Amino acid sequence: MVRTDSKQEYIQSTFSKIAKSYDLTNSLLSFGLHHSWKNFAVSQLGDFSEGKFLDICSGTGDLAMKIAEKLSKGEVRALDFCSEMIEFGKMKIAKHGLEDKVKFVLGNAEEIPFENDIFDGVTVGFGVRNVEHIDKAFSEMYRVLKRGKRAVCLEFSSPPSPFFKPFYLFYLSNILPIIGGLFGGDFDSYKYLSTSIKKFPNQERLKEIMEESGFKDVKYYNLTLGIVAVHVGVK
Ligand SMILES: C[S@@+](CC[C@H](N)C(=O)[O-])C[C@H]1O[C@@H](n2cnc3c(N)ncnc32)[C@H](O)[C@@H]1O
Repeated sequence: MVRTDSKQEYIQSTFSKIAKSYDLTNSLLSFGLHHSWKNFAVSQLGDFSEGKFLDICSGTGDLAMKIAEKLSKGEVRALDFCSEMIEFGKMKIAKHGLEDKVKFVLGNAEEIPFENDIFDGVTVGFGVRNVEHIDKAFSEMYRVLKRGKRAVCLEFSSPPSPFFKPFYLFYLSNILPIIGGLFGGDFDSYKYLSTSIKKFPNQERLKEIMEESGFKDVKYYNLTLGIVAVHVGVK
């Protein structure tokens, strides 16, 4: 049984409701861009063809799958605390014939069930916005990473352009919950998505949070006008 508190219970139940249509709705809401954002995030792990990797808040395992596709030897652990998301992830991984390389783990990103210093890279995509204690999640990512290796965080962020920002905020508040509600089957869950994006720390603040968790050389890259940012830190 994965230990959770009240925000986590809300998040777990939210994702269990939308798990079935999660991949489709993701593609619709991002106009398919989430695949290129995820490819860019994986490229920030550096060059590799073997090793042991971890993707936390893995959901249906997109990032884990993209890492696994690069591996000739090694494996990816895909950790999530929502069993419904994992079930749909397992089906997708099996369809792509990657079940030998991607192993799902039911667990909490704030208490990663692995030893210190064992992973060659750790990723999180659209996950840290949902955890109760973001600092704990980053400290845990840091703890399980080998020295000199990288953690990569892909997350919604704050578009810096004052011209673009009002359009984006309009999309978040008015269009996203409607599309999400229609295709994802749960209007409230997508209203939560919109609110959580607006409340999330901006690029500079997230960089500081990673540094406070111990990461060095933290850099970030704005993608698609800063709608999302990829932060990279080294242990
Ligand atoms: C928006 S989805 C992202 C899924 C995937 N990484 C992607 O990029 O498509 C967020 C995922 O984080 C998981 N999650 C949120 N908080 C978590 C926590 N504390 N521990 C483990 N998983 C968590 C949710 O269950 C959900 O599957």
